Amino acid sequence: MTPDEIRAAYAQDASRDVAHRVVDLAVDFLERAARGDGPVSTPLAPETIRERFDEPAPMDGTPLDAVLARVQRDILSDANRLSHPMYLGHQVSAPLPLGAWVDALAASLNNSQAVNEMSPTLSHVERRVVRWMNDAIGWGAGAGGTFTSGGTEASFTAMLAARAHLMPDAWVEGVGANPPVIVCGEHTHYAVSRTAGQLGLGVRQVITVPSEGYAMSARALAGILAKCQAEGRRVMAVVATAGQTATGTFDDLDAVADACAPHDVWLHVDGAHGASALLSERHRHRLRGIDRAHSVAWDPHKMMLLPISAGAVLVRDERWLDAAFAQRAPYLFQADAVNWNIGPRSFQCSRRGDVLKVWVAWQRYGTRGFASMYDLLCDLTTELHALLQQHPAFTPLHEPQGNILCFRWIGDGRKDDAELDRIQALTRERYNTSGEGWITSTVLGGRTVLRVTIQNPRTTSAHLRRLVAGLDRVASAVRD
Ligand SMILES: Cc1ncc(COP(=O)(O)O)c(C=O)c1O
Repeated sequence: MTPDEIRAAYAQDASRDVAHRVVDLAVDFLERAARGDGPVSTPLAPETIRERFDEPAPMDGTPLDAVLARVQRDILSDANRLSHPMYLGHQVSAPLPLGAWVDALAASLNNSQAVNEMSPTLSHVERRVVRWMNDAIGWGAGAGGTFTSGGTEASFTAMLAARAHLMPDAWVEGVGANPPVIVCGEHTHYAVSRTAGQLGLGVRQVITVPSEGYAMSARALAGILAKCQAEGRRVMAVVATAGQTATGTFDDLDAVADACAPHDVWLHVDGAHGASALLSERHRHRLRGIDRAHSVAWDPHKMMLLPISAGAVLVRDERWLDAAFAQRAPYLFQADAVNWNIGPRSFQCSRRGDVLKVWVAWQRYGTRGFASMYDLLCDLTTELHALLQQHPAFTPLHEPQGNILCFRWIGDGRKDDAELDRIQALTRERYNTSGEGWITSTVLGGRTVLRVTIQNPRTTSAHLRRLVAGLDRVASAVRD
């Protein structure tokens, strides 16, 4: 394309007509999914889909009509439909549509959150939303935080802050020959053990605490911390989880904080999934004690139903976050402006204005709106638990504390565990490729189990009944 042709394409693509055509694709996709029309996901194998895109990079441009037709035919057609009420899979929301449209607005601004001068309004919006989140935790004026790409980056950043707290010289000197340990629950998300590798501690320095009822045993934690002290092993952080990935279970944060207190150890709460419960009068009690933590990970892109990406790391004292990154970049971080800039405390340099969609959604729904969505999703999960309990062919494996539930199909109860493992895995695969619904599976106590996450307010009791009947039908057919 010549420079004139490029300018013409810019002008055409900036028109309302093009914008509307792209948004129409999204609206049609969302509307159809939300009505429950069509399959939840694709029946096609990854190899088949890969072939569609097996082509060299285009050397010349293609007319827009052809490009959008291809998006429709090759991408939207076989994408997962998270807004379908029978999508009950991973912890990714049926996105708030407003969040999706506002994401396009944030991309249109393309103001980077690195420094205030690059994002004169959204930098302040981010500080304000971080303040609202800190208020929900119960932290005072000294608290701070930053938006992240999600829970993984949030916990990584928190662990950097914990390292700086324990070893202020580690940024320059490294962690040395006797690295400290991270102590976390056995069901902690892999994001935490990954930080041990990333920070040069080595994953051998991760000590896992056994669970009681899928939550970290505070008693066992106290024993491990005492043993570390007796052996002279330094503990960099204890990581508790508010909303375990597998089961949605919450660690008892007060009890965990009590166990940490005599050792004056950094407590991080991975609330990527469950911190949104802070907004709900009915569910906030699950996080009692969270204000005693040093840092918290909280993903609005999970239970506040925003589209990916929207995560946050929050700290009780914002100076801890400044200490986490001892970075110098004179072209970007000028000393006189440092108080306005978020970049020095973030893993990223160029950073999207993810906060815009969170701020807009908070204005639109209010804390009470988010709370009702949270409550509804948990109520539906409790209802599913009751349905499974009443059904002779299923066993729920725990009481749901949030919107996640693990269970097993046991049929007539005469199959051995290994055979049942096989049935769960095949049931999930066949059910998902049928297009009727979409669920996940995991391994609990060494056994394969079925796992459902309800993260779509359009899912109703009728859909849950359909899920139970569908899984029973598919599992019975697998068995035979
Ligand atoms: C408890 C917990 N922490 C962290 C993560 C990772 O979050 P993200 O995918 O936003 O990086 C997850 C993801 O499911 C999670 O459940």
